[in-house]
Amino acid sequence: MAVNPPTPTPTPVPVAGTDGGFVVELAGLGVAYLDRSGVAHPAVTDLDLVIAPGETVAMVGESGSGKTTTANAVLGLLPANGRITAGTIRIGGADVTRAGERTLRALRGPVVGLIPQDPMVGLNPTMRVGGQVAEAARRRGVDRRLLSAAVVEALERAGLDEPVPRARQYPHQLSGGMRQRVLIAIALAGHPRLIVADEPTSALDVTVQRRILDHLARLVSETRTALLIITHDLGVAADRADHVVVLRDGRVVERGEPATVLLAPCDPYTRRLIGAAPALSGAGQVVPRFTEVRTAPEILRLDGVTKDFTLPRTRGGARTFRALEDVSLTVRRGQTLGLVGESGSGKTTALRIAMRLEAPTTGSSSSTRTRSPPSTRASPSPSRSPNRSCRSGWAPGRAARRG
Ligand SMILES: Nc1ncnc2c1ncn2[C@@H]1O[C@H](COP(=O)(O)OP(=O)(O)OP(=O)(O)O)[C@@H](O)[C@H]1O
Ligand SMILES: [Mg+2]
Repeated sequence: MAVNPPTPTPTPVPVAGTDGGFVVELAGLGVAYLDRSGVAHPAVTDLDLVIAPGETVAMVGESGSGKTTTANAVLGLLPANGRITAGTIRIGGADVTRAGERTLRALRGPVVGLIPQDPMVGLNPTMRVGGQVAEAARRRGVDRRLLSAAVVEALERAGLDEPVPRARQYPHQLSGGMRQRVLIAIALAGHPRLIVADEPTSALDVTVQRRILDHLARLVSETRTALLIITHDLGVAADRADHVVVLRDGRVVERGEPATVLLAPCDPYTRRLIGAAPALSGAGQVVPRFTEVRTAPEILRLDGVTKDFTLPRTRGGARTFRALEDVSLTVRRGQTLGLVGESGSGKTTALRIAMRLEAPTTGSSSSTRTRSPPSTRASPSPSRSPNRSCRSGWAPGRAARRG
């Protein structure tokens, strides 16, 4: 395992020669963004970081602290107004700080897999997901004849059930969480030497999250892949990383082994981050709020709604997938309804049917047009905090469940 220098007494990072054994080496990295008048605004300053094969480094910090900027600089994916202003980036011993587009592309393909933060930007909407995973595997040198097997393996490893029919679907036919898993499969396909995972599981429910993180951990130990996990979740960092780097306003404020950083943080900022992580602080207990609105007029109703989607043909013939089965719910004026369930459980489908963007296979949906006060809304709970005690104050029909 590579040892990163502790702060606040920084010592120079061991910068390797052509082969120092590190997959990634950042030394004194500075990155800035130019505004319209050409003025540079620093986003990352004086960042030192090394990652050895088989090592997991977690980069944590609040929103805007420079995590994605660092990842993009490593991957050569900075936007047009992004500039490397200082320091060096080496990947597999090669200095790529000022490498041109072609060198970076040649390097990125076989060496680096990115799990991007935004699942909507990473997929081609006009191409079946299997083709997109195959393309990544091919770039990393997988033989043409082995591509189908590599696609199924990568999709399975990313936690997607029924990989064969899923591979034949287009991104818009998958749920948000499933799309995220396809992106993870693209990053894993063909076994890259470095995986950069930018908030890899933030859009996923806890069960799938754990499966994917476990898989990434296995990959790191079995194949000596290097892993840079970017997360605002200190719980993830504590569980999975060999080394934690805490960023604030683009600067490292603390670094070290997770046990040290989390149990004895020196910096008040790290203490604040720990306080905000429910799994670590014991915070996050939610007191359910019961509101008596049974007498208020109904504004939305689903009655026994079932929704089947046709899956692409495979050898076994065409099949349907039941996304919702006999779901009934009522929303009254003044009531907030939280629709909760794991990835792919049908939350968005129920919402699309309620909004008449999709027709139910059986059952009915009705809504009353009403001038609602801003507090009257029916939407899935935006929170994905995994450690809530979840009880709800509404009593509609059965919960959405998988068929
Ligand atoms: N394309 C851009 N142009 C100008 N400024 C940018 C650009 N992208 C990022 N920034 C700025 O750089 C800083 C770091 O942003 P970055 O996206 O790296 O943060 P982050 O730590 O990944 O945050 P989050 O947790 O929200 O994803 C922020 O101040 C942000 O506004
Ligand atoms: Mg980010």
